[in-house]
Amino acid sequence: MLAEGVALPTGESYEAALKEISQTQTLADLDSLRVHWLGRQGILTSAFKKLGELPPDVRKAEGQTLNDAREALESAIASQKAHLEAQDTKRRLARTAIDVTLPGRDAEIGSYHPLTLVQRTIEDWFSRLGFVVASGPEIEDDFHNFEALNIGRDHPARAMHDTFYVSGNELLRTHTSPVQIRALQQWGPPLRILAPGRVYRRDSDLTHTPMFHQVEGLVVDHDISWAHMKSLLSDFLRVFFDDAPAVRFRPSYFPFTEPSAEVDLACFFCRHQGCRICKNSGWIEVLGCGLVHPVVLQTTGVDSQQWSGFAFGMGIERLAMLKYGIRDIRWFYENDQRFLKPSWMNTMVNTEL
Ligand code: PHE
Repeated sequence: MLAEGVALPTGESYEAALKEISQTQTLADLDSLRVHWLGRQGILTSAFKKLGELPPDVRKAEGQTLNDAREALESAIASQKAHLEAQDTKRRLARTAIDVTLPGRDAEIGSYHPLTLVQRTIEDWFSRLGFVVASGPEIEDDFHNFEALNIGRDHPARAMHDTFYVSGNELLRTHTSPVQIRALQQWGPPLRILAPGRVYRRDSDLTHTPMFHQVEGLVVDHDISWAHMKSLLSDFLRVFFDDAPAVRFRPSYFPFTEPSAEVDLACFFCRHQGCRICKNSGWIEVLGCGLVHPVVLQTTGVDSQQWSGFAFGMGIERLAMLKYGIRDIRWFYENDQRFLKPSWMNTMVNTEL
């Protein structure tokens, strides 16, 4: 209890201060109370300064009382501080505590992209028949992408390709067929190559993206006929789609093959009834093929009297979409984990055709 002589500012009480100290919740609150009472401008400090104005007979007793008050406040503050600090430490420990009994987190394991899996499946099948995997540049020149494939400057087939040009003579290859030219130039016949890779066209909708993948195949040897091609491709499709969809070889035209065909599969999505995906035809085109045009052989220095061959090109996305019922080609490129990581895809790593 403070002596009468040392008046406290109105509203301030020493007992209330002790109580307040014991109720503080944070070190910051505690410190502002300390400053309020014991700081340089603090209430007790000012009271000490006023001692000098008191008559000498009461000064001593007042001084004693003030000292007691200061000690009581200081020790209350110290013990509250210890209490708050202990509480803080406890809270921090609780927050960072490690429960060693919890199960560990699964390590995220990467997986192959669906297209890689499909591409490998195709490569495996053809490799076993003696095909060698070949590749060519994605930025091609006009000669390999068009000219040597019998698609001259003014050939109307150029319009079908919706080409991205890099410069006057350079372009993003519109198909994998230029690899045929490079392989013929480099190795010559006899030849059995498979050339998977990216191709580019200015096209974008449910079943087209500006970049997609094709696999090119080329066989050049003695006495190669349409029958070889047809049986090989039919076999491949029958094995690739294990539930053997209807397949049709439809007469078509490519400047670099003669005769030519496109191969259609019965649309899986609508069971041949006609839908958005097959544009109501009930059929979906999966590949183009034909016997290598003699002009292509001659351009690459191959004697077309001695050698003949066939070529085919198929869309990998198309094949994957049909095999797995993927409705939108864009899913391949959106990196959505739900699409990229389904178990049905990963099981393919070790699945032989
Ligand atoms: N290159 C053709 C295309 O992109 C496909 C094809 C390849 C056709 C080989 C015949 C022979 O559509």
